Parts: sequence; C-alpha cells; structure tokens
Amino acid sequence: MGWLAADPSYAITPLEIEGRVRLEPVISTGVAELDLVLDGGFPRRSCVLVLGGPGTGKTTFAIQFIYRNARERGVKALFIAVDEAPEVVRHRVSAFGWDLRELERTNYLIMYDLHTLIARIPSDEFFQPEGPMDVASFLAEILGIIDEFEVEVLAVDTVTTLLEHFGGQQTRLVLKRMLSALRYHYVTALFTADLVSRDRQLIHAVEYEMDGILHLFLEPTPDGIDMIRYLRIEKMKGRRHPLSRIPMRITTDGIHLDIHGIVPGVIRRRRWRRR
Ligand SMILES: Nc1ncnc2c1ncn2[C@@H]1O[C@H](COP(=O)(O)OP(=O)(O)OP(=O)(O)O)[C@@H](O)[C@H]1O
Ligand SMILES: [Mg+2]
Repeated sequence: MGWLAADPSYAITPLEIEGRVRLEPVISTGVAELDLVLDGGFPRRSCVLVLGGPGTGKTTFAIQFIYRNARERGVKALFIAVDEAPEVVRHRVSAFGWDLRELERTNYLIMYDLHTLIARIPSDEFFQPEGPMDVASFLAEILGIIDEFEVEVLAVDTVTTLLEHFGGQQTRLVLKRMLSALRYHYVTALFTADLVSRDRQLIHAVEYEMDGILHLFLEPTPDGIDMIRYLRIEKMKGRRHPLSRIPMRITTDGIHLDIHGIVPGVIRRRRWRRR
C-alpha cells in the first residue's frame, strides 16, 4: 500500500481497463520469428528484460517491439528514453525505415525524454520531467500518460540507468512497485539492461523481478575470425520455450532470428544458408 494506494493516478479500476483493452492473451515481440517460438509473443501484462553487452542490439529490439506493435497492430506505445535522447533514437532507427515521428503525430507512440533529467541537458521534447523528480512522481507521470493515451506496450532503454538514478538504497523495492503498477494497468513492458552496469547486484535483482529474460550476445565463429549474434530465451513465465541459443541478425529490416530446427516445419531462409 503506502504511496501506491495514496496516489490518485492509481484510481483507475481494472474493470475500466478491461473495457478498453483488447483481451488477446499475447502481445507481439516485434520479431516475427520470436513470435513463432513463443506461440504468438509475450504473455500480455508481462515484464520482459532484454539483457546484453554493448552493441548487441538492445535498443534496436526495444524500438522494433514498440514500432511493430504501434505501426502494424495499432497497439499504443510508450518509449522511455533514458540512455540516449529521443532525437538520437529517432534518427538512428530511421536507417531501418522506421519513422517514429509519424507514429508520434497520431499519438500511437509517446516518446518520453528521461535522458534530459539524467544527463542534465536541456531538451525540446514535449514529454519530459518538468523539473527534478523522485520515483513516485515519475511513476505517477508515466501512469498518467498510460491512462490518457491508452498505452498497451512500453519500453525502457535502459532500466539499469533508470534504477541507478532513482533506486538509491531501495532499488529492488522501486522496481517491484514499478512492475506491479504496470501490470495493474495492463501494460506489457520491455526493459533493456546492459551487462556492464557497475552494480552486479542490481542486475540480479532485476532478473528475479522480471517475467521473462532475453539474453543478446555475440560469440566468435569456430575459426575465430567473425562474430555471430545470438538470442537466448533464459526465462519466460507461463511458456514452454527452447533454452538453446538462437542465431540473430540485424538487417536493414531490423532483427531476425534463424529458427530453423527450433520451430518444427520452419525452413531456413536463403540468406542464412549462404553463410
Ligand atoms: N541499419 C542497420 N543495419 C544493420 N545493422 C545495424 C543497423 N543499425 C545498427 N546495426 C547494428 O546494431 C548494433 C547496435 O545496435 P543497438 O544500438 O541496438 O545496440 P545496443 O545493445 O543498444 O548498444 P549499446 O549498449 O551501445 O546501447 C550496431 O553495432 C550494428 O552492428
Ligand atoms: Mg542501446
């Protein structure tokens, strides 16, 4: 209870929410092949961690999840930019042909600039903190946006920096409250986390709290010359899933997985065979 109950932004009842959401049990991951592996996608209302080292594709994954849901399925989305300014993200993903501004104009996507607060640089973004804020007022603001814009999917890039900023001595409690509030609001949330976080304990706490963990990593080829990207589903509550590493590529069209041999009946794409 505590501030969770006292905060007026929690006053929405599950019944009101039931009335507005479509009640499909899954939300697309944004990666077509991963949807096949996970019987349609992430369980609705789950909180999933995308964990990986530098350059493994975390931001790309987070935006693909948001973009494909908003653009192709009409699922309203919220992106919380923590490590990089929204303008940097918009520009970067335009290389995949993803026009975030177009989705923002129609309120299918809200880009919330938390980077401005953390990096202490001024920002022209419409959605940003009005001044220094604690975790309770940040959450209240985010839940207000979720409610007003009927947001169903959210991504935070990265949750590690967010918790380092807001967590203080109570990182795990802050995270628990945040995830509970999101589930209560019927949001399916994806959080990226870098493995180079100074605080290993922080990563462990995050791993325990999440419903799902996707691990992105790079490994050298047997001859040691090249590197191959992989994704491993380390945890997905309520789903049977393979534990094997799944080869991954970042192409001009975003992230793809080679699920040949993982999902029965899937034939390997020609592009994979050529390697
Ligand atoms: N348009 C593109 N086409 C193909 N590959 C790309 C493209 N854009 C990025 N990549 C690949 O994706 C990698 C970075 O992806 P991304 O920024 O999502 O990683 P990240 O895990 O978020 O990195 P960081 O930890 O630095 O934030 C690049 O290093 C590059 O190899
Ligand atoms: Mg990134």
